[in-house]
Amino acid sequence: MSVPPEFLEDLRQRVPLSDLIGKRVKLTRKGRRYSGLCPFHSEKTPSFSVVDDQGFYHCFGCGAHGDAISFLRETDGLDFMEAVERLAGMAGLTVPRSAPEDPQRTRQRKAALDILEETARFFQAALQRDDGAGAARYIAGRGLGEGTVATYRLGYAPRAGLRAALSARGFSDDDMLAAGVIRRSERDGQLFDYFRDRVMFPIEDRQGRVIAFGARALGDAQPKYLNSGEGPTFSKKNVLYGWVQAREGLRRKLPLVVAEGYMDVIAIQQSGVATAVAPLGTALTEEQIAHLWKLHDEPVLCFDGDAAGQRAQLRALERLLPVLQPGRSARLALLPEGQDPDDLLRSEGAEGFLKILSTARSLIDSLWESLAAQHDLRQPEQRAEFWQAVRGQVRAIGHNQVRSAFADEIEARIAAMRAAGRGLARQGGMPRPRLRRPAAGAIHRHRAICALILAHPSLVPDLYETLLSIDSGDQGLERVKKAAIDTLIRDPDLDATALRHHLDGLNLTDSMDVLEGDEMRARLPFDPVALTTDEASRHLAELLQLVSGSSGLFSTHGAGHR
Ligand code: UTP
Ligand code: MN
Repeated sequence: MSVPPEFLEDLRQRVPLSDLIGKRVKLTRKGRRYSGLCPFHSEKTPSFSVVDDQGFYHCFGCGAHGDAISFLRETDGLDFMEAVERLAGMAGLTVPRSAPEDPQRTRQRKAALDILEETARFFQAALQRDDGAGAARYIAGRGLGEGTVATYRLGYAPRAGLRAALSARGFSDDDMLAAGVIRRSERDGQLFDYFRDRVMFPIEDRQGRVIAFGARALGDAQPKYLNSGEGPTFSKKNVLYGWVQAREGLRRKLPLVVAEGYMDVIAIQQSGVATAVAPLGTALTEEQIAHLWKLHDEPVLCFDGDAAGQRAQLRALERLLPVLQPGRSARLALLPEGQDPDDLLRSEGAEGFLKILSTARSLIDSLWESLAAQHDLRQPEQRAEFWQAVRGQVRAIGHNQVRSAFADEIEARIAAMRAAGRGLARQGGMPRPRLRRPAAGAIHRHRAICALILAHPSLVPDLYETLLSIDSGDQGLERVKKAAIDTLIRDPDLDATALRHHLDGLNLTDSMDVLEGDEMRARLPFDPVALTTDEASRHLAELLQLVSGSSGLFSTHGAGHR
């Protein structure tokens, strides 16, 4: 369907952009333009401008830019035609259609939407009836409350009865088939309800219209989830499950999590500490990433900590990098092996889940570390391949400035690694990059190492690689250590005060307080702050030796077998 360009021009003339945007954003007139706080990113001083006579807005902070139509698409989740209709309504005009969509398809799409809505109601009602008791028990057994069931419109598909109910409301079999709620048997040509004896999850578009269903078996029936096929209303790659509910949650400024499954989304939202969406059983698509960024500048993507989850993480990175925009990003969190967010919330509660979210790594760290994990960094040719792989990913970033910013940082890390490699070569070999869990008693040595590097940052540049190859197993401590190293890679001349200042800005205060508290002091045979650099360097070397000795991290007698 298309709209004549003259009509769009007419709309632009009739609806001043400042009127439209002024409904959402407090605008102040500045000569020929208006200015206000940008609705697309959070800011305290206005960098958002609206220019009426040219009909565009621009944000100098986040780069958001567009016209009335893109504004409605971004803020209200409308598609192009819907945005045009809305503007036409404001101007008191009707939209002329130069090339109307095939009327048959338009009618069938509309019928499908009506059928899907009616079907959702039918399933919701069935959940309240006797034959829905098993499903209701199942839902309650998974910890979902009544409010959650209502918000996500969960229901029950009985073994039969949908087709009859829809027929009674005047819907034709053809339209039901097109909507995907009934199918024709290949064996005998009979029509049957597609979803039977399952818990139903309506899938909604960004305006809250039901466009498909996911359906979970109550027991071990296969498949575990049955989903609507692609159809006139449903294109999987464009949809994120839970978008509308997540948008509600975001009004409360909660973090946005991207999970894998229906149950994860619902459990996260119900926890009240975060809000969530999920792609539908596939890796994130470019379209879904664009939708995510309409909700949040930095969603947190969750992956299972197992090998498959790590591969999924790398795939997600490969999708994200090409479309990165200034100020738009993502963080990536690895969950404990074999657990999804729903499992974790049940076993560790909201706090446990938040703790995992707080370990989410930035995009660049995730990229660096997930590629590093695929290489044996003791081998020079493997190191070179690793660098090539990271650089290759950085080249895939589409946006010029974002690409340069990534390239700068990656080159600094590579340079630091090379410097560390030269130092270690003199000492007889690279450390083993394989991370192993340390013995339980080793944790205070790791704390001491961390306390020493915070007090004597000048020692760090010679030890990047060594420090990164040891793992205390304590997430708080590892975050402090990595943040300190990251900061120093960028700015190797920082002294202890400046470093502390940087880290304070990163929400690491709790973990750092442990390092500087009385209990820590009592355990150490020295006061890190009172040591000279030479003394600190000796202690650090000794501790690194002990930690690596106890966990077998270094192959001190020549590199070789693992
Ligand atoms: P999982 O197998 O991880 O299931 O599939 P889950 O989400 O943890 O479900 P519960 O907790 O056992 O109920 C993750 C997602 O993959 C899709 C669904 O979207 C599911 O939520 N999936 C999975 C299917 O589409 N079909 C299947 O048979 C299985
Ligand atoms: Mn699950």
